[in-house]
Amino acid sequence: MEALKISGGQRLKGSISASGSKNASLPILAATLLTGGKSRIYGVPRLRDIRMMLKILTALGAQVQWEDDCITVDSSGIVSCTAPYELVKEMRASICLLGPLLACFGKARISLPGGCVIGDRPVDIHLKGLEKLGVDFKLVEGYIEGETKRLAGASIFLGGNFGSSVLATANLLMAACFASGETIIEFAACEPEIVDLANFLNKMGAKISGAGSHLIRIKGVKKLKPADYRVIPDRIEAGTHLLAGAITAGDVEVRNCVPEHLFALLEKLVEAGAEIKKGKNKVSIKSGGKLKGVDIVTLPYPGFPTDLQAQFMSLMCLAEGTSVITEKIFPERFMHAAELKRLGADITLQEGTAIIRGRERLAGTRVMASDLRASAALVLAGLVADGETVVSRIYHLDRGYQDMEGKLNAVGAKITRINE
Ligand code: EPZ
Repeated sequence: MEALKISGGQRLKGSISASGSKNASLPILAATLLTGGKSRIYGVPRLRDIRMMLKILTALGAQVQWEDDCITVDSSGIVSCTAPYELVKEMRASICLLGPLLACFGKARISLPGGCVIGDRPVDIHLKGLEKLGVDFKLVEGYIEGETKRLAGASIFLGGNFGSSVLATANLLMAACFASGETIIEFAACEPEIVDLANFLNKMGAKISGAGSHLIRIKGVKKLKPADYRVIPDRIEAGTHLLAGAITAGDVEVRNCVPEHLFALLEKLVEAGAEIKKGKNKVSIKSGGKLKGVDIVTLPYPGFPTDLQAQFMSLMCLAEGTSVITEKIFPERFMHAAELKRLGADITLQEGTAIIRGRERLAGTRVMASDLRASAALVLAGLVADGETVVSRIYHLDRGYQDMEGKLNAVGAKITRINE
């Protein structure tokens, strides 16, 4: 199994380019099923999760090609509506195939994705929303089986106990494209990845308005035509690299990113004492000395993203004073805390909250990644811990970061990938 060996103490200095967004690419690739033709998606990052999605599309009968920066999906030959357990269990996001399969074929059979270390991953909002469009669901041997004679537009409230749902909004957007009449989604997710999906669907001929707000309207159409599309930059990867600059008291510019997608993080970094400069498609961070501890609460976009919570916690482990991190989206998303404590961090966990008391230093040692963003947090901590840190189970990192060690080494980090 591969691990990353990190020699701490290097101040990062230079420019890093973010790759395309994983979380925009996954639903957009699922949406290519809607056209029954050949679509080209550009700027998709080379990640394990993307390869999983392409495997599932191929299992459904699509022809998939990935050359350089472009993925071509030909969905004219779909022969199955079943996303098999052995593929779905590898990637929860496969749930976003529900909408397109129901829209095109009137049926879908997707293995219940099961939970993951960041918490129970229910799909009740997805099912409730799709039922409103006229889908009947049953759970058979761990598979969600959905069937519909005809999708009919409806008014749907998509809020849950933790706010809006990103992939439930994606599923409803895609299903509603072929629903008769108008569908109104209330309390839709506002994430940039939803806006990107809506832009792609509209490019294919859908009639969607309001994406990016909590109220989205979709007028059903008969057909969608294939389209070429470039996905937005990955705001979570960009944020992670900015935090790498911050934690090493470095001077880092992240290119190919959208500053507006990072407002909540940038606000908190400025509050902590970092110097931020925004450009057209780039953000630079400079932090000479110690940063101050600041409190964060994770919320649906445009609030502080849960996907940057673990990485921000690493930064707070070395900040001056105490900081409180409240995780409102996935209250159990603190697996990284125990590993950070192995590096000497002072973290106390209570119900959905972490209290971090800043330390002078961290001491490198062996730590274990548990999930995608936790692994990024451990890499960031390793950049600044004294001596050597080895982060094992780095396949978690490869799910969501394209060549992270290469990008960080290019700005001064000392990271090598080893086989354990
Ligand atoms: C998306 O997951 C992202 N994944 C996640 O990123 C991200 O953490 C999450 O949104 C929140 O921003 C992709 O886009 C592929 P949700 P999603 O439905 O859509 C609850 C990463 O690191 N909920 O917005 O699955 C849920 O338990 C990944 O890249 C229900 O209760 O998340 C959570 O508490 C990790 N019922 C909250 O809503 C449902 O039916 C938000 O989840 C669905 C969700």
